[in-house]
Amino acid sequence: MERREFLAGALALGACSPVVPSHAQESVSSEGLAAHARRSGRYFGAAIKSRQLREDPDFTTAVARECDMVVQEYELKRGTTEPKPGKYDFSGADQIIAFAQDHGMRARGHALVWYAAQPKWLEPALKLANRGGREKLMTSYIDTAMDRYAGRIAEWDVVNEALEPNDGRADGMRQNSMWMQALGEDYIDIAFHRARNADPRATLFLTDFGLEHDSPRCERRRTAMLKLLDRLKARDVPIDAIGIQGHLKPFREGFNQAVFARFLDQLRGYGLTFSVTEFDVADRGGPPNPDKRDQQIASVAKAFLDVALDNPAMRSILCWGLSDRYSWLSNFPDYKWPDGQLSRGLPLDGDMRRKPLWDAIASAFDAAPAIGRRRA
Ligand code: XIL
Repeated sequence: MERREFLAGALALGACSPVVPSHAQESVSSEGLAAHARRSGRYFGAAIKSRQLREDPDFTTAVARECDMVVQEYELKRGTTEPKPGKYDFSGADQIIAFAQDHGMRARGHALVWYAAQPKWLEPALKLANRGGREKLMTSYIDTAMDRYAGRIAEWDVVNEALEPNDGRADGMRQNSMWMQALGEDYIDIAFHRARNADPRATLFLTDFGLEHDSPRCERRRTAMLKLLDRLKARDVPIDAIGIQGHLKPFREGFNQAVFARFLDQLRGYGLTFSVTEFDVADRGGPPNPDKRDQQIASVAKAFLDVALDNPAMRSILCWGLSDRYSWLSNFPDYKWPDGQLSRGLPLDGDMRRKPLWDAIASAFDAAPAIGRRRA
């Protein structure tokens, strides 16, 4: 395949060509982003909450128009689904999966094994258990959730956020994780084998953040990821795909297309596919003028997505939310604006209008080389 040439140097914000303005795009087409994704054999999706589907028809219409894939923003995290040991509440996830099925959308499951958003009872229980008991405390959730949604959730984030070089380990693994402490790195092997067994048809993802920017922080995290993959592949751990979360923060760290393209090629070298699973752009620190900020957000998004979608192993792009009305960025301490204004990091604004970021995503999909027939 002909590879496009990417900018070799660090990308200056606003330096790349402006994306097509949203009004021009909208006048020629009201197609959603999923239609743009489909042309090259990809998917576009978003993280959603069941409450939004129940209470916000405008938002729900926008999801149906823009997406052909959905993921739960929190309703498959174990802190929500298993408030008491073995007592499950899948009501929120059930609604999201029913919505996906009604609309012919593909669904992801997020996330089976994570250090965060766990029920309070879990960590003390792990401390009291023997090795077999500790394994069971992890695998019981994999079995229960994957069994419940077998055939309906096509891909799972099996292990989320296993890396944290700042924890001080030479291998860059996250030490401050109840799973690492309970089982050592073997927790990853056990989780993937169990997941493969629970639903052999599902695509199994290892997902992480901080893999995108041209910064010492992300460079350490990319290195840790590649080294982890060396070990997992040597042990025949059944990983299918890497989820690059894609939480960009362009007003704090730079982005370099060549650096990111090289990393994706390295990942592809392991025989893995990948997706951007939680894309958004943290805008705090950007220009105070919202229009100017929107242009810069769109510009860095286009630079990032052009590289992502140039790689034939890239299967889908999911945003972490769809409209600024509900972005987690507006509430997260590190990213929220002190004056309470909404973050502008998602393709639709707080009134469900398409922004330059929408155009950036659409035009990146339009420019993407086709990867042939999509899997069912
Ligand atoms: C976030 C949700 O968006 C918030 O609503 C919640 O309070 C915290 O978690 N990486 C992940 C996601 O893998 O699960 C996180 O979602 C965002 C960062």
